[in-house]
Amino acid sequence: MKAVWYEKKGPAAAVLRHGDFPDPEPGPGEVRVKVHVSAVNPTDTKARGGWGGNVEMAFARIIPHQDGSGVIDRAGPGVSPARVGEAVWLYEAQLGRASGTAAEYVCVPSENAVRLPDGVSFETGACLGVPAMTAHRCLFQDGGIQGQTVLVAGGGGAVGHAAILLAKWAGARVVTTVSRAEQEETARAAGADLVVNRKSEDVAARVKEFTRGAGVDRVIEVAFEANLDLNRAVLKPNGVISTYSSGLPDSAPRFVFSPVMRQGLTMHFVLVYVMPREAHWAAAREVNAALEAGRYRPHVARVFALQETVAAHEAQESGNTVGKILIAVAR
Ligand SMILES: NC(=O)c1ccc[n+]([C@@H]2O[C@H](COP(=O)([O-])OP(=O)(O)OC[C@H]3O[C@@H](n4cnc5c(N)ncnc54)[C@H](OP(=O)(O)O)[C@@H]3O)[C@@H](O)[C@H]2O)c1
Repeated sequence: MKAVWYEKKGPAAAVLRHGDFPDPEPGPGEVRVKVHVSAVNPTDTKARGGWGGNVEMAFARIIPHQDGSGVIDRAGPGVSPARVGEAVWLYEAQLGRASGTAAEYVCVPSENAVRLPDGVSFETGACLGVPAMTAHRCLFQDGGIQGQTVLVAGGGGAVGHAAILLAKWAGARVVTTVSRAEQEETARAAGADLVVNRKSEDVAARVKEFTRGAGVDRVIEVAFEANLDLNRAVLKPNGVISTYSSGLPDSAPRFVFSPVMRQGLTMHFVLVYVMPREAHWAAAREVNAALEAGRYRPHVARVFALQETVAAHEAQESGNTVGKILIAVAR
């Protein structure tokens, strides 16, 4: 099969190679998927780049990418052969494994291949994995949010966009922050009720005005330390911050205990890879329900070919793109 891989960590152009790779065979409990679309996430580019000093290779050769979509073409021992031919979206394809979705075939545990609802494109399917599951966990870890007001920091980002889509699907009012016109457009299209430019506007004042002074119930946060004071200012008593990123490599936030305690705040630190299995299943179920209702429409920035994976990684790392970076593996 054709695949993209690396044998040492470093810049995309220096370490990514494209060429022929042995076809994988599914082991017990696994399915083999003919990949149609692979997706790039920051987790993939950081792992490849050795970000944070993590320069050890977990495997001698790594085919990157956690997320993707395609069609099951083989079922391993213990998996119902009825799954062969099923269109699926993939999550955590490369977690603890050497081979992800930047290849014509990938083998994953059967449960990591989720049925792609009828009529949903492979492009949409490839956008789900990391962003949708992270957003789902951040939003619903404490139960339903119908009628609540949620502040999504960075609504133009992949996870932020997913959080807007899922929060609106669940019946919440959504306030979000952006820094550029293109992000604003994307956030509005996702259904955000209020979009605030965090660079040119007073976010706290706009949120207070929008909520008639009440504040928000929950914050989904991409830059925990940078926005902590803002979040404390706009959260209702007993509000929740669910954060999935510090925004800085070695962030060491400090806050004074008493005022935070007096607000009764809850802080969740979310890492998609350590979500309980049941939380993954719930996310997959509910994301599929939103897809079936036509309410989950990811924003795609650009689609590259497999042999253009270097450019795809560089586009992800540039921070300039708005929306998902995808790779069309099967055309
Ligand atoms: N913990 C987990 O399980 C998990 C899961 C997924 C992602 N992540 C991490 O979360 C981060 C975002 O991932 P992503 O895929 O959503 O990336 P992305 O598509 O590049 O989006 C990042 C967004 O964050 C915004 N942002 C940056 N600083 C901000 C600030 N101070 N306030 C508000 N918004 C800000 C950016 O907007 P600007 O252009 O305005 O800067 C951008 O829209 C990455 O570091 C990724 O590794 C963690």
